[in-house]
Amino acid sequence: MAPRHLMSPLDFSVDELEALMDVAADIEKNPEKYAHVCDGKKLATLFYEPSTRTRLSFEAAMLNLGGKVLGFSSADSSSAAKGESVADTIRVISCYADIAAMRHPKEGAPLVASLHSRIPVINAGDGGHQHPTQTLTDLLTIRSLKGHFDGLKIGLCGDLKFGRTVHSLMNALSRYPGISFTLISPEELRIPSYVRDAMKALGIPMREDVRLDESTMKDLDILYMTRVQRERFFNEEDYIRMKDFYILDSEKMRLAPKDMYILHPLPRVNEISVDVDNDPRAKYFAQAQYGVYIRMALIMNLLGLAPEA
Ligand code: NCD
Repeated sequence: MAPRHLMSPLDFSVDELEALMDVAADIEKNPEKYAHVCDGKKLATLFYEPSTRTRLSFEAAMLNLGGKVLGFSSADSSSAAKGESVADTIRVISCYADIAAMRHPKEGAPLVASLHSRIPVINAGDGGHQHPTQTLTDLLTIRSLKGHFDGLKIGLCGDLKFGRTVHSLMNALSRYPGISFTLISPEELRIPSYVRDAMKALGIPMREDVRLDESTMKDLDILYMTRVQRERFFNEEDYIRMKDFYILDSEKMRLAPKDMYILHPLPRVNEISVDVDNDPRAKYFAQAQYGVYIRMALIMNLLGLAPEA
């Protein structure tokens, strides 16, 4: 049977996502129940681009399930440096592992790999395009904080042009009734037109603004902050001009709604001041923890495994 892959959050139906989040919530409560589900299984992490959280949370997820991990954490240390294609690499990895997570600077590289793979391939971030497992993490975090998605007012702030986590999250949230977006970015880093057009076609209310202030934060349920994606800029001057465009600090938090939670996929640079970390609305570190639970649920799902009843 052809393996199932995860390239975009839309690869799972809303009901499937709900079921995945239910499993993740159960893992949070009863981790010992899942400690041997992946005994004897191997996860390959194929990371052609830097990562801390995504790669290590995948590895932690597989280890928590009793499985083992192998892989590489930079293109330089793999045969990509010798010119090997992702198609050939995944053909070979299919002989070594049961499931693979791939991060690549080129949009679409994990999709190409999935077409040549005998094992499930998970897109762990492809260039400025998509980052579906961060989205699963974000959805689980939002559900645990708000209990639902319908009618939520979501603010997204920072580098909306290159920020792949933003593109994936908007895609995923667009399927829930009553969702609306407030998009806060510098002119040069506005959301790509393909994402804007897709939202418009679905009739989703969107407001775009340059300011992060009381008027744009008013009424928000979630404010999703992102860093300026330095590695995707063509020149360093543009990056330097834009890198500190937004700084959310405790001063600004005073103007924000009392129940507006702050999420961030991390790594943070300067866009959230450390003085916000102790604010009860700051949920970005909790979010990183949810990333492990949802990746455990995802690995089990794609391998067709579940704990013994
Ligand atoms: C994000 C990414 O890689 O896109 N990081 C992550 O996976 N948590 C966000 C970022 O790098 O800014």
